Parts: sequence; structure tokens; C-alpha cells
Amino acid sequence: MTSMSLMTVTSEIGAMTQGRAPIRFQNVSRAFGSVVALDDFCLDVKAGEFVTLLGPSGSGKTTALNIVAGFDRATSGEVFIGERAVGALPPERRNVGMVFQSFALFPHMSVFENVAFPLRMRKVAAYEVRARVERTLEMVQLGGYAGRRPGALSGGQRQRVALARAVVAEPPVLLMDESLSALDLKLREDLQEEVRRLHRTLGTTIIFVTHDQGEALVLSDRIALMNHGRLCQLDTPTTLYDRPASRFVADFIGRTNIVPIDAGDHAAAIGLSNAPDGAVALSLRPEKLRRQPPAFGGGFEAIVQDVTFKGAATEFRLQTASGLSLRMSEARATALALPEIGQTVRLNVVPEDATPLYE
Ligand SMILES: Nc1ncnc2c1ncn2[C@@H]1O[C@H](COP(=O)(O)OP(=O)(O)OP(=O)(O)O)[C@@H](O)[C@H]1O
Ligand SMILES: [Mg+2]
Repeated sequence: MTSMSLMTVTSEIGAMTQGRAPIRFQNVSRAFGSVVALDDFCLDVKAGEFVTLLGPSGSGKTTALNIVAGFDRATSGEVFIGERAVGALPPERRNVGMVFQSFALFPHMSVFENVAFPLRMRKVAAYEVRARVERTLEMVQLGGYAGRRPGALSGGQRQRVALARAVVAEPPVLLMDESLSALDLKLREDLQEEVRRLHRTLGTTIIFVTHDQGEALVLSDRIALMNHGRLCQLDTPTTLYDRPASRFVADFIGRTNIVPIDAGDHAAAIGLSNAPDGAVALSLRPEKLRRQPPAFGGGFEAIVQDVTFKGAATEFRLQTASGLSLRMSEARATALALPEIGQTVRLNVVPEDATPLYE
């Protein structure tokens, strides 16, 4: 094929794509007998947005995704893709791409045919199938692998094929359920980058499901944190991390110290007596605690109970005189000598670094 005709094909493909679609969960409930998997769940995902459903096991993430994909039906409420209520549409008419955790590739087909499959189902012309599959394989850095069978690929490469297959028809909506969770850390980070790049290139609306908060922070425009089938907080990764609304959120996103306000005067003992009315606790991130040279006054003392080497950071477990147990994370660039277990250290907290929690 000449480069001229390839360009023509590519622009035809461009014209075929349906862009991006917003997704709306409107008071969606799903009960399995007495188990309420989704409980009056409401969520608006904007067109082209990358939203992650994050939450503990059993919080309803997969159920929510299956209802968008059409593999399951809501007991009540409605899901909209674009302007359209999709509750009554079969999965194949919803125009969504889906990548599962167990990437079910067809083992007897080549990589090329696996990726071509959604286009063949749509009766796309052969020359166009070729152009699109090749372009998509390039996109996931598998240009040279078209002729291989899935059995001759590594786990990460297979996951890339599954990604390519999900996006080759450029669906306006892409759903991903724990798609990277089975991979080792390094590979997962590589593929996270790949997914981000795909999102930037295609502009597709993505709902990504994970129980890994680190992955959610890296990937998402916004994170929808779920618990017991309900939406707990919907915010950008930085807001969710810096301004969690509840103990559950503070504890689920990253690590934190929950400092109770009422019992035992713990907050006042470490210089945090500024909590607003109605707050039940303060969230204090481990990296916000700072050691200071013993010669300095102020701050408060704590006894070192444990020291853990974490590569770029050192983590401490500490106990204050009032009996509060604290976690501290310290960049290894510090000039202070590492304390021994049992030693007393002097610490400092800036009151503004503590976030009030209201439930
Ligand atoms: N087909 C089913 N029949 C009965 N109960 C179900 C069914 N599917 C899901 N559930 C229940 O609904 C709740 C939510 O399940 P769901 O699979 O949506 O959780 P999840 O957030 O995806 O969890 P995980 O992180 O473990 O994948 C769970 O209590 C689960 O046991
Ligand atoms: Mg699940």
C-alpha cells in the first residue's frame, strides 16, 4: 500500500469514530437476593474523562462495570451512555470496549486476528482492518508481533494484545476491570503508562476498576471511592489524598495517622488543638511528621518503636507520651542520624497539615 492510500484509509477511520461519550449512573441499585451490591449509586463521568472505581473487595466495582457493559442489569435506576438510557440494550449494541483481568485471547488465532476480531464482527472492509490493526499494534508497541500466537507471548504482551483488541474499534467508552492487577509491579507500571497514552491519543471515556489505590492515583482524572455499594467520595487524586472527607477515605487512600480528638487529648498533646467544630478526628499523613534536632525546643517527644528501610524513604513507628501510636515517613535525604529503637525523638507538626474528618 502506498503512503498516499494509507493516509486516505486513516482519515476515513478518523471520520468513522464516534468520539467520546459521558456515562451517568442514576440511582442504580443491584441486589443479589439479600446482598445489596450497589445501593442507590450515582456517578457522572464526563465525556473523555478517566474515572477509576476504587474500593475494597465486594464494594460493587465489578457490578457497576457489568451494568454499563450490559452483562448485568440494575434492580432499579438507570445507566446512560451519552444521551441514551442503555438498560434495555444488549451488550453488543452499547459500543463499549472491555478489558478484563483474565485477558481471554483466542489461543488458536494470531495476535493480528485477535485484534482484528471486533472489526470483523462489524464487517469492516479487509484493507481497513489491516490498517487499523497495524496502527493499534504499533500503539501498544507490538508492531512486530502480528503473526504470533498468544501462547508465545509474555503476560504483559498478552495484556497489550487485549488492550489493542479493546480499543481497535475506537469505542467511545472503554471499561477496564482489574486489567493490570495480575502483572508484576514493573510491568504494571509500564502498562499504566501505555493506558495513559492510549487515553490521551484516543480521548476515549474510561472507567477503570482497581482495588489498588496507588494505581488509581497514577491513572485517574477523578477517583470514585466506593464502599458497600455506595459512592463515598468523588474527587481528583490530589484532593482525595489531601482532603479526605471521612476516616474511611483517609485510611484507604495512602497511609495516614488518625488522631482522635475526643479521647485522651491526643491531638492537643502533639500540638493539634485547632480542629473545627464537628470534626471527630484528624488525618495526619506520615510524611507530614518531621523530626527536629534535639537541641530545638517546641514540638513533642515520641519513642521510636520500629524503623523500616523502604528504599527512598525510611518509615518509623512511634509512640507519644499520651500513648498515641504514629507512623512517620522520612525522605532519606535528611541530615539527621537514624535513631535506634527505644530512643526518644523530637517531632514537629504544622497544624495546617492535619485534615479534619467529620465521620
Ligand atoms: N452473581 C452474584 N450473585 C450473588 N452475589 C453477587 C454476585 N455478583 C456479585 N455479588 C456480590 O455483590 C457484592 C459486590 O460484588 P462485586 O463483584 O461488584 O465487588 P468488587 O468491588 O468488584 O470486588 P473485588 O474487588 O473483589 O472484585 C459482593 O458482596 C458480591 O459477593
Ligand atoms: Mg471485582
